[in-house]
Amino acid sequence: MKPYTRFTLLCLGAFLTSSCSPPAAPPPPAPQFWGGDMKPVVSVKELMRDVLDPLSDNIFLAVASEVTAKGTVDHMPKTDEDWAKVRTGAVGLAEASYLLKVPRPFAPAGDENNSTGPDAPELSPAQIKAKLEKDPVLWQAKIEALRNVGLEVMEIVKKKDTKALFDAGEDLDAACENCHLEFWYPGQKNSMPKLDKMLREMSAKHAAEATHR
Ligand code: HEC
Repeated sequence: MKPYTRFTLLCLGAFLTSSCSPPAAPPPPAPQFWGGDMKPVVSVKELMRDVLDPLSDNIFLAVASEVTAKGTVDHMPKTDEDWAKVRTGAVGLAEASYLLKVPRPFAPAGDENNSTGPDAPELSPAQIKAKLEKDPVLWQAKIEALRNVGLEVMEIVKKKDTKALFDAGEDLDAACENCHLEFWYPGQKNSMPKLDKMLREMSAKHAAEATHR
């Protein structure tokens, strides 16, 4: 065999085990989204009404207290079907919360929210947008907070822990409210503590009156 033939064969063998070839180029980065960008369908307002709100009801209603003629009835998930409903809410919120990262209008065109006049209770879509653009990190933090409650409830479903689910209902309420108080009706941020104080004073007054009777 001629020397170069031997070399060719050697290199061919080596090529097959890939040590003779130039170092392989690094694989292209995975696309950020399979199938390209995510496109929104509805506004934030509609996403709330038609996706996040109904999903959250799967959790809220599972642990709600109902006042009936016979007294208060506390609802708790009992059957596997009950728990599956809670899981739908938890997985749904954990995943769908990220749809709030997709830029979209805040309300349908022409809908200005209850945002006119002095002491308007709600911000207009343009005001909400300006707030988000000023502090996108805050918006993201509120999304993560909601997602975390979804993850928390997914774990609770695995353990079928009704006590923990009850507490998670409060966490969920807070996750929704804390974003609304920043981005939707910030005017209530101050009135809440005021209202709390008023209620505390009222009940203290009633208690004092009751002891004097
Ligand atoms: C990251 C922020 C954020 C989180 C978290 C969030 N929301 Fe909202 N939500 C908004 C904003 C902003 C609006 C107001 C949109 C508008 O009217 O322009 C809104 C509006 C709504 C509306 C009014 C819809 C309508 O048709 O008038 C409902 C209901 C609602 N949210 C429910 C929820 C519930 C329930 C949760 C928790 C499971 C939640 N939201 C969590 C930002 C948030």
